[in-house]
Amino acid sequence: MKGIILAGGSGTRLHPMTLASSKQLLPVYDKPMIYYPLTTLMLAGIREFLVISTPRDLPAFERVLGDGSQWGISLSYAVQDQPRGIAHAYLVAEDFLNGERSALILGDNIFYGSGLPDKLMKARESGHGASVFAYQVHDPERYGVVEFDDGGRPRSIVEKPREPLSDWAVTGLYFHDARAIDIVRSLRPSARGELEITDVNRAYLEMGALDVEFLGRGYAWLDAGTPESLLDAASFIQTLESRQRFKIACPEEVAFSMGWIGREHLLGLAHAISGTTYGKYLSWIATEPLPPGSTSAASPGRALAS
Ligand code: DAU
Repeated sequence: MKGIILAGGSGTRLHPMTLASSKQLLPVYDKPMIYYPLTTLMLAGIREFLVISTPRDLPAFERVLGDGSQWGISLSYAVQDQPRGIAHAYLVAEDFLNGERSALILGDNIFYGSGLPDKLMKARESGHGASVFAYQVHDPERYGVVEFDDGGRPRSIVEKPREPLSDWAVTGLYFHDARAIDIVRSLRPSARGELEITDVNRAYLEMGALDVEFLGRGYAWLDAGTPESLLDAASFIQTLESRQRFKIACPEEVAFSMGWIGREHLLGLAHAISGTTYGKYLSWIATEPLPPGSTSAASPGRALAS
């Protein structure tokens, strides 16, 4: 399975912060926003990624993330010339995917919660069809919304409905089999001129091949698309990281936990930034044994590897 991180768009809701820099490179507390979706897909066991962004911003992503070898993964890059819709990412990624299944994540979506790695692994291993994640929100009209029948199976999925039939929003993380590209090719742009990811998911629903996983109480799903939500996300991460010793969305830690980089390599990464809090954290992770009885809540990556 391959991973796609969609990190384009114009970021107008964050102007003037995004006049010079991509939204998805803005800091969320102590690291660039894109670290969060990247590590989410790494926790699903994905090691090959395509980062898609605008012609203006793509070079900055390359500078920040490199080729991924420092984290035992492979990162390549592709331009989306215009924001033609989330589903358009599949057309940009066609050569990269080369017929494989994929997980697509939006570069401004942040996921956190105990048990998340298990849910991600389950979606990855489900084999064929599509898996999406639903989250109960106050303002479903801002999102793709999924409605369920009495048996808890998805019955309809609608993009930004004026009158939502449920309060379950579809998050910006999508696992699709290789049929996604053909589905996107058959789509027409929506009224807002975009190829809609919700139309792709509806096609899977109509084929009886859409699985919806609930992210219930105990999970956080944040999108950092406005000044308020960006600050909320940063405060949330700061609160957790200051109270507990673990960092959230640290690619070095996840790579180490998954066994994709070794201890010496991790110590080398730590040494290169040894004067920083982040560097000190990497040194600690490299030397700290997994706590007894530790679960994915305490350290998702290390628990996964154990
Ligand atoms: O966050 C989850 C929601 O994301 C879903 O519930 C909706 O079904 C889905 O359509 C999407 O809704 P948004 O209206 O929030 O999507 P937005 O246009 O803001 O795009 C989300 C991110 O994807 C944004 O950070 C920019 C990036 N993007 C978007 C488009 C349309 C691109 O990189 N290229 C694009 O062409």
